[in-house]
Amino acid sequence: MDKLEVFGAKKLKGSVRISGSKNAALPILAASILSNKKIILKNLPNVKDIQTMIKLLESIGSTIKYSKKNNLIIIQNKNKLKTFASYNLVKTMRAGILVLGPMLARYGKAKVSTPGGCTIGVRPIDLHLKALAQLGINYKIIDGYVHAYSKKKLKGAKIRFPKKSVGATENLIIASSMATGTTILSNCCIEPEIKDLVNFINCIGGKIKWIGKRTLKIKGVNNFNKNEYTIMPDRIEAGTYLIAAAVTEGNLKIIGINPNIIKTEIDILRKLGAKIKIINEQINIKGTNNIKNINIKTAPYPGFPTDMQGQLMVLLCKSKKRSVISEEIFENRFMHVAELNRMGAKIKTKGNKAFIEGNTNFKAAELMATDLRASVSLILAALSAKGKTTINRIYHLDRGYEQIEKKLRKLGANIRRVS
Ligand code: UD1
Repeated sequence: MDKLEVFGAKKLKGSVRISGSKNAALPILAASILSNKKIILKNLPNVKDIQTMIKLLESIGSTIKYSKKNNLIIIQNKNKLKTFASYNLVKTMRAGILVLGPMLARYGKAKVSTPGGCTIGVRPIDLHLKALAQLGINYKIIDGYVHAYSKKKLKGAKIRFPKKSVGATENLIIASSMATGTTILSNCCIEPEIKDLVNFINCIGGKIKWIGKRTLKIKGVNNFNKNEYTIMPDRIEAGTYLIAAAVTEGNLKIIGINPNIIKTEIDILRKLGAKIKIINEQINIKGTNNIKNINIKTAPYPGFPTDMQGQLMVLLCKSKKRSVISEEIFENRFMHVAELNRMGAKIKTKGNKAFIEGNTNFKAAELMATDLRASVSLILAALSAKGKTTINRIYHLDRGYEQIEKKLRKLGANIRRVS
């Protein structure tokens, strides 16, 4: 199994270009099931989760031309698609559940593996299923599979999500864009990736409109058009490089990201002492050795993202004073804490709160990565630690970060992969 070796305590310098967003590309790929016309997607990140979603589409009969090198995919569903998503493909990537909505909208039936639990929490799909039921589907869960069908075409409805869920909002947007009549979705998540999904569906002929801050009006259509679409940049990758600059007291230019979509992160980093300049789609950041402290909660967009919680925690370890992070989205997302403590951090957790004492000079150690964002947090700590840190079990990292070692090496990091 691959591992990473990092020789840290080097200030990162230079410029890094942000890749396409994994979390925007996954629902857009799932939405391609709706159409039989040619779809061209550009700026597709070359990461494992995307490859898994492509395998899933191929397994149901999509005709796909994929160029990893050019970050481009051409999809055309010439034949009738299968309506089955296997456990093998959904188990490693929870976003597999996003094929449920489009399969039901187009074919009126689907058998899709439930994603099961994962290391960061239980991650149920009840919100997806209950909302789809309001469009007229029936479902049962048998032996780990959702068996769903609808006798008639899905029918538009007024649906209010009882709780904010990114995935449920996406599944319902996709399904209702092919239902009969009009659907009103309220209490939607408004993550930029959801806005990208809406823009994509409209670009192939969908009729979706934001009619309130968290409310969508979706007029179902029967057919879609051929078109091409460019996936938005990855705001979590951008945030991760911002923290890489801050934690190594480096000086980075982050290129190809709309700063408005990571305003919360930029404001927090400024508060913590980083010097940040914005020039159009470029963010220049200079770290400091005088990091301030903060008390912060993760929250749905535009709040501070749970996907940046681990990375921020690494930076807060360098503050002179104590900080508190409350994790409000997932119940078990502090797995990086034990490993950071092995590197000399002084972090205690109680329930959903982490108390970060600060004043940490990270020490190199042998570590084990757990989930995607925890893995990258360990790299950030390793980049600021003297000596050699080895990070084992890094396959999670490849699910979501395009060419991370190559990008970091270009910025002066001493990092290598050992197979
Ligand atoms: C997406 C992102 C993930 C991010 C998360 C929160 C993708 C592929 N993944 O995950 O990176 O961390 O949003 O921003 O885009 N919940 C339920 N019932 C449901 C669905 C969710 O109770 O049916 C709960 C979850 O357990 C969690 C919370 O709602 O506590 C939010 O989850 P959700 O927004 O759905 O996350 P994902 O779409 O899985």
